[in-house]
Amino acid sequence: MTELIRGRVLRYHADPFSVGPDAAQLTEALVIDKGSIVAVGAADALQRAYPGARITDYGTCLISAGFVDAHAHYPQSAIIASWGKQLIDWLNTYTFPEEMRFSNISYANEVAKRTFDLTLSNGTTSVCSYCTIQPESVDAFFSAAAARNQRVWAGKTCMDRNAPSALLDTAQSAYDDSARLLGSWHGRGRASYVITPRFSPTSTPDQLSALGALWAEHPKCLMQTHLSEQVDEISWMRALFPSARDYLDTYEAHGLLGAGGIYGHAVHLEPRERARLAEVDASLIHCPTSNTFIGSGLFDMAGLKAEGLRVGLATDTGGGSSFSMLRTMAGAYEVAQLRGHALHPSQLWWLATAGSAKALHADHQIGNIAPGLEADLVIIDLQSTPAIAQATARADDIWQAVFPTIMMGDDRAIRDVRVAGVSHKPQVSPKSQPSG
Ligand code: GUN
Ligand code: ZN
Repeated sequence: MTELIRGRVLRYHADPFSVGPDAAQLTEALVIDKGSIVAVGAADALQRAYPGARITDYGTCLISAGFVDAHAHYPQSAIIASWGKQLIDWLNTYTFPEEMRFSNISYANEVAKRTFDLTLSNGTTSVCSYCTIQPESVDAFFSAAAARNQRVWAGKTCMDRNAPSALLDTAQSAYDDSARLLGSWHGRGRASYVITPRFSPTSTPDQLSALGALWAEHPKCLMQTHLSEQVDEISWMRALFPSARDYLDTYEAHGLLGAGGIYGHAVHLEPRERARLAEVDASLIHCPTSNTFIGSGLFDMAGLKAEGLRVGLATDTGGGSSFSMLRTMAGAYEVAQLRGHALHPSQLWWLATAGSAKALHADHQIGNIAPGLEADLVIIDLQSTPAIAQATARADDIWQAVFPTIMMGDDRAIRDVRVAGVSHKPQVSPKSQPSG
């Protein structure tokens, strides 16, 4: 059924880091049909062109591409906001014990469903997630996404050392499991499989090589991992890989550096790493709430964008402290301010939509509002709380009206979410939460 959606439609014709805030344009309406956007423009003209379309009017709400969370760990949803640890202790104390629970498929299904309820209610229509070592955790994630028809990316997290034995695979079983899961899920509906070594400290060189070989066999798949997140982690990596030139070299030497490489965090990069990442057109994912919560450091957004790198934005839950990409944009703003640089709201919004989509090589499918793209949308109330409403009351332009929602907004700002056109804003009821 054809539907004409009215509101303040925000779309990008370019990257605002390259051309400035006017890379974004506002228009009045879009038309969706069979899950895709078929037209965008002035409301009157579209009503004349599509006289039979059902009309949905969101008034003064902002209509944007749905948020794209380019790096998350759905198995860590329940341990979000765990107190008092930095990366390695945080992994050992909170993360690994929780990830062990995912050998239980019903627990994996429950957390996967809950994660999609939470992310959708925050306006996130696509997620690129790590799973756990257990193949069941991958099935749970992709099944829950398929039930909602969401475009998602995920992979089995591979580790064959430096983690509890219940969370270890081997070079061979990581290759075999990943290859089987890739065969089952990659390209099925809106799912994409991502080859996922957790990070070099938890993989032997043999395992990294095995996953590099798998990637070479499936070059169209993405490969995700963590890179240079925290200073202690980098010292640990150096002890484990004494002959590596730098952290990136631990991946590069094993076939894990390339254009479809998605490197999370990338806070403490050395000049050679920055140059190589740009040269191969790799993607970096900025996880600001995680980098502050776990105490990792300040991502160099201005410098890395100026060097031409693809950069996406992500929650990194549960190292990140919020499921909300609004809160994540606020975190990106704050981190950039600490480096002496004010990101424009147009840039923040672009990072959470088109930038993340581009980082995931999916900007021909999602992340923007244009004919031919999938109709994944978020509809935002720009006056969702009294504090936000009184700040926007004096806005002179759209970005002054949007910025208070970026800085102070949460799931109350999400009026509606569309997944391939279908309205899909689940309510998360505290009563439906599981015990322990
Ligand atoms: N590095 C390796 N594993 C993880 C993880 O689960 N979260 C974060 N933030 N960093 C990691
Ligand atoms: Zn992560």
